Amino acid sequence: MAWPGRFDFDGNMRTQVVIIGAGPAGLLLSHLLAADGVESVVLETRSREYVLARIRAGILEHSSVELLTDVGLGERLARESMPHRGIYLHTPEQRTHLDFVDLVGHGIHVYGQTDLTRDLVDARVRGGQQLVYEVTGTALHDIDTARPYVTFVDADGAARRIDADVVVGCDGSFGPSRQAVPDPRTWERTYPYAWLGVLADVAPSTDELIYAWHPDGFAMHSMRSAAVSRLYLQVPPGTDIAEWSDDRIWTALAARLGHGRDGWTLTPGPITEKSVLPMRGFVAAPMRHGRLFLAGDAAHIVPPTGAKGLNLAIADVARLAPALGALLRGDGALAAAYSDTALARVWRCQHFSWWMTTMLHVTDDPFDAQLQLAQLRWVASSEAGARGLAENYTGLPLR
Ligand code: APR
Ligand code: PHB
Repeated sequence: MAWPGRFDFDGNMRTQVVIIGAGPAGLLLSHLLAADGVESVVLETRSREYVLARIRAGILEHSSVELLTDVGLGERLARESMPHRGIYLHTPEQRTHLDFVDLVGHGIHVYGQTDLTRDLVDARVRGGQQLVYEVTGTALHDIDTARPYVTFVDADGAARRIDADVVVGCDGSFGPSRQAVPDPRTWERTYPYAWLGVLADVAPSTDELIYAWHPDGFAMHSMRSAAVSRLYLQVPPGTDIAEWSDDRIWTALAARLGHGRDGWTLTPGPITEKSVLPMRGFVAAPMRHGRLFLAGDAAHIVPPTGAKGLNLAIADVARLAPALGALLRGDGALAAAYSDTALARVWRCQHFSWWMTTMLHVTDDPFDAQLQLAQLRWVASSEAGARGLAENYTGLPLR
């Protein structure tokens, strides 16, 4: 597709859709729009290097994989992702494998968001579409009209303006787009724990992800490749990472994941990255105001326990792209329905993430612990219980 034009001498440009934010939501939306013949420009405040190196979640639902494959982004994914049939649930009492393929007919794929971002950026570059990095001062204007525009300062310090038919805020939880929606309704849940996440240069000690309940706190074993493990520990919010030496981390992981029980062992290795992640649920509605649409973390945050954040961003833009294509061709019905239909899925995922989080994270209330263990026993022993988890984890159909 032909590129519509660079900035003119006044620093201005016109396109059909300005997308603010080059996370998975913004990049994939731009790709889906291009496939439908719609031009877009993506504005990103960070550098290309930062965007490509950012470490985030790594689980793709079955329907996310299908969508990415359908739109030509499946080649490296098929080669390098790790298809998993299910997950393990560990408690001090038992180790259970839930086989999602048996339970609901499909599994999930482990594929780092870093890898997906690389695929999306490559596809944008191949498609000749513009991605402007290192912008500052992004501001939205006239979103109540059919002629909205966005202003910003580019990496060289030049003031720029892009006029468009539509602006999409894919700028994550701290971007300016959500603030442009007047009087949004918001819901928020701050969970009373955080995750200490580590990347380690060691082959995963498990073939599929382990979610572990333990009286000392939740632990999880995930992976990025055959040689890189990703592990998490429940820690109190505000934890200072300096309190967690590598030795302390491996000792806690071994205890909580159940090293040595039922023949399962954890192999430690060099830790290459450590960070503390907050656990929060948040929803802002509506996800549309006039010619501004919100997608991904700009509109909602889920705690990471259900691995839903990335998949929800994908689901939003899978719904939004055809709605914008139709709107630009004069049919606004799908665009009018976007906020309500997207929010229904957001709340389903918010509920699942809350359910997984509260089932697995230890509080200081011993009554909670007994409820959690009862719930885990039910999921591990009842096909109905296991199927409910499997259906939500592998993802509901996109459309
Ligand atoms: N101008 C331009 N870009 C901005 C601005 C701004 N003012 N503010 C933020 N951004 C950029 C961020 O730098 C980031 O690259 O918007 C992007 C938002 O990307 P994500 O935070 O990854 O959000 P999203 O694309 O919705 O992804 C959702 O994937 O990364 C995971 O944890 C994330 O689960 C979530 C999901
Ligand atoms: C991850 O691999 O980072 C990951 C996996 C599953 C989760 C959360 C994070 O639920």
